[in-house]
Amino acid sequence: MTIDCKNISKEIDSKTKKIVENLGFSPKLVAVTSNPDPSTVTYLNSMKKKAAKLGIEFDVMEGANMEDLVKAISKLASDDGVHGLFLTHPLPEGIDEFELTMRIPPEKDVEGRTPFNLGMLVYGKELFPPCTAEAAVRIMEHTTELKGKKVTVIGRSVTVGKPISIMLLKKGRDATVTVCHSRTKDIKSITLDSEVVVVAVGRAKFLKLDMIKEGTIVIDIGINVVDGKLVGDADPEIEEVASVTPVPGGVGRVTTSILMEHVAKAAERLSKR
Ligand SMILES: NC(=O)c1ccc[n+]([C@@H]2O[C@H](COP(=O)([O-])OP(=O)(O)OC[C@H]3O[C@@H](n4cnc5c(N)ncnc54)[C@H](OP(=O)(O)O)[C@@H]3O)[C@@H](O)[C@H]2O)c1
Repeated sequence: MTIDCKNISKEIDSKTKKIVENLGFSPKLVAVTSNPDPSTVTYLNSMKKKAAKLGIEFDVMEGANMEDLVKAISKLASDDGVHGLFLTHPLPEGIDEFELTMRIPPEKDVEGRTPFNLGMLVYGKELFPPCTAEAAVRIMEHTTELKGKKVTVIGRSVTVGKPISIMLLKKGRDATVTVCHSRTKDIKSITLDSEVVVVAVGRAKFLKLDMIKEGTIVIDIGINVVDGKLVGDADPEIEEVASVTPVPGGVGRVTTSILMEHVAKAAERLSKR
């Protein structure tokens, strides 16, 4: 069975629209990039369309080197007319992404990548969690009661696997979480004993039918290109026994909606200062 993420995304968008209407001005989001590759350009174009639909202004600033990017971020950080900013990925070699991320003010860090916003998660406070992690958690909450559930997260990256596992442990959500990675032994025995499996590895058909039991909820975060088509990390066969988020149109779709929601919320908070 496919988990319907379209409606989750629509619900978020309609709340974002209301926040924007109540603001009385258009929030502004700026993407900072350097020599963007074709997939980044496509992503930025789709973001531009989404922002326009929600009444959010969207701009792109490009820098050729580290010095340009530091200047761009400093300017955007102090510009009261800018409410959210983020760095595109991947950035070219020689660009220190961590150093740039450290310069983004947490209150404008709508992608939730700064140490401040990631650290907030450990305290159970979610100002701006990384958008994909928040999307995965919201889809899970929409689909099932997490309290006491055995959830396995495959992947331990800073902006996907780790924040998802921390968010699932939050008091009130109360999932029992296992995190797997490339050094984990016998992942199959762990996933077979799980009620929810989150897969964020970046390998097509990684999660196979024989790795899950009947009724498992699978949150497929992976994005892979196979024969020119976008596919996730879960083998499509698992739909025979599991409820699965689609790729494309699943976690990715909800992630974009959450980014825009963060921008509207950032504008709301900054305008009250
Ligand atoms: N839908 C969205 O909005 C969205 C957003 C972000 C990312 N993504 C996609 O999600 C996927 C993961 O992204 P990411 O940024 O988290 O990637 P990443 O930084 O490359 O992390 C991948 C994780 O998978 C683990 N892994 C790799 N091979 C494995 C194996 N054989 N068995 C178990 N674990 C294994 C790695 O383990 P180690 O730590 O041990 O190396 C690592 O923790 C990618 O396909 C990416 O494109 C989607």
